[in-house]
Amino acid sequence: MTGPAEPALYGLAGHPVAHSRSPLIHRLFAEQSGQNIDYLLIDIAPGDFRRDVHAFRDRGGCGLNVTLPYKGEAFEYASRLSDRARAARAVNTLAWQEDGTLFGDNTDGAGLVTDLRQNLHFRTSGCRILMMGAGGAARGAIAALLATGPGKLVIANRTPDRAVALAAAFAQAGPVQACCYDALIDRFDLIVNATSASLAGQVPALPATTIGKDSLCYDMYYAAGPTVFLRWAAQHGCNRLADGTGMLVEQAAEAFRLWRGHRPDTAPVLDEVRRLLG
Ligand code: ATR
Repeated sequence: MTGPAEPALYGLAGHPVAHSRSPLIHRLFAEQSGQNIDYLLIDIAPGDFRRDVHAFRDRGGCGLNVTLPYKGEAFEYASRLSDRARAARAVNTLAWQEDGTLFGDNTDGAGLVTDLRQNLHFRTSGCRILMMGAGGAARGAIAALLATGPGKLVIANRTPDRAVALAAAFAQAGPVQACCYDALIDRFDLIVNATSASLAGQVPALPATTIGKDSLCYDMYYAAGPTVFLRWAAQHGCNRLADGTGMLVEQAAEAFRLWRGHRPDTAPVLDEVRRLLG
């Protein structure tokens, strides 16, 4: 006689991970399609990434989401990479293949673009996009945004050289350019905050002329209640505001599809996550 099948094992590797919504999101995805999975939070101390990922695999792990600060280490560790992981130079999803190889993908950019299109009904094709920030979060999103055919994508960063380098890295992928905050004058249709400023309760030095009432201001960061950037945008007359909760759920759905071969219905999961975030 055989007992009930063991759940397939997944998890989130990062530091810290305690407050992550990913276990809830993946549990709701699994319930939707009657799949038997376990999803663990794996807090990895600095220097222990490879050892702990290896140990997770030894326990029977099938795949991992990877969050800060390990997306670069996961990129180095994976034995095979998707094109979008290569473009981002970062991996947020690992999947062990049947032949034992470790596949690294990056679902962040797809998560952002799906949230914009599907949940916010925002068309990026032909539009003017401003990306604030030139770190890992910005890098992970640029290829996916350029693939939607914007009219232009401007990268602005506190340290201008990083914006120039990032624009140069994606020059072949679409109409991308770099600019300093204080040289920005014209209005943008979409402004994405990919800086970590929200974490520190700060707003990048963005001139208010860049925001119109119909612009969409999008903060990749999420929190209970509007972020400081979204509050600032609202004070300057913008009434289309979104935080990164939708992106979080959509990048998770892409990871779930990679692992389980089935893309979940994200709308009810997003409602539930928003309800719990308050
Ligand atoms: P991540 O991987 O989250 O993108 P990162 O690589 O450290 O993290 O990048 C953080 C980004 O937020 C950078 O673009 C940083 O600007 P600098 O390159 O000038 O450091 C940006 N950032 C952080 N705090 C900021 C602030 N208060 N105002 C404007 N930009 C800020």
